[in-house]
Amino acid sequence: MESIGIPQSYYEFYAEYITPLESAIEYTLAQVEKISDGCKEEFGRSPVENVRYRIKSPESMSEKLRKHNLEVNSENAVHGVYDAAGVRVVTSFLEDIELIAERLKSASGLKLVSEKNYITSPKANGYRSYHIIFEVQMQKRVYIEVQIRTAAMDTWAAADHRIQYKKLTPDSSVVAQELKRCAEELARIDTSLQRLVSVYLSEQQKRSTSE
Ligand code: GTP
Ligand code: MG
Repeated sequence: MESIGIPQSYYEFYAEYITPLESAIEYTLAQVEKISDGCKEEFGRSPVENVRYRIKSPESMSEKLRKHNLEVNSENAVHGVYDAAGVRVVTSFLEDIELIAERLKSASGLKLVSEKNYITSPKANGYRSYHIIFEVQMQKRVYIEVQIRTAAMDTWAAADHRIQYKKLTPDSSVVAQELKRCAEELARIDTSLQRLVSVYLSEQQKRSTSE
């Protein structure tokens, strides 16, 4: 579909699933927008900083299927693994993540398949993010992976991705250690900012109720 600009090679690779994948992304984006609008009404601000999405490239999907010992075809790309379609939601604050996750899970049309909370249980390298896999029934059944993270977690993931994620050479332990330290420092900043905002809001609320 032109609206999200998919290259021709994707149509060939995903064949009859390309339109359902695009529809699943558009549907999920619409749910995120609804949540954002709802929060603006309720709390006077949106928890959504920015949203990105992608259909996994044929090259990257082929590599993943081979890694999982699955034959490279559109059926396996869409039903053998769960992240042919992906949406990433970046939030300002820590508590926004849970809020968005809860609301997405109760949105109609998004059926929860699995979730991973890499915030309460970060990966050994320091990676933090909330992942949810949904089943979406569009023209066909497809899956979509939603990743929800703060801007700080997102920046860390970008650095990690550039430096070492999925790199074939062994990790340099100094770089890995330094990255992990950064992840922990950013996590403390996320916690401090959240506390600051929460304290400020509760003070403001007290003031407005006593007026
Ligand atoms: P794949 O990693 O995609 O093979 O799937 P998985 O079954 O291991 O799922 P997981 O939830 O661990 O990761 C899914 C996605 O999260 C990845 O494709 C990345 O986008 C992101 N991700 C997971 N771990 C890391 C990490 O250590 N660093 C970065 N930068 N991204 C990660
Ligand atoms: Mg992984």
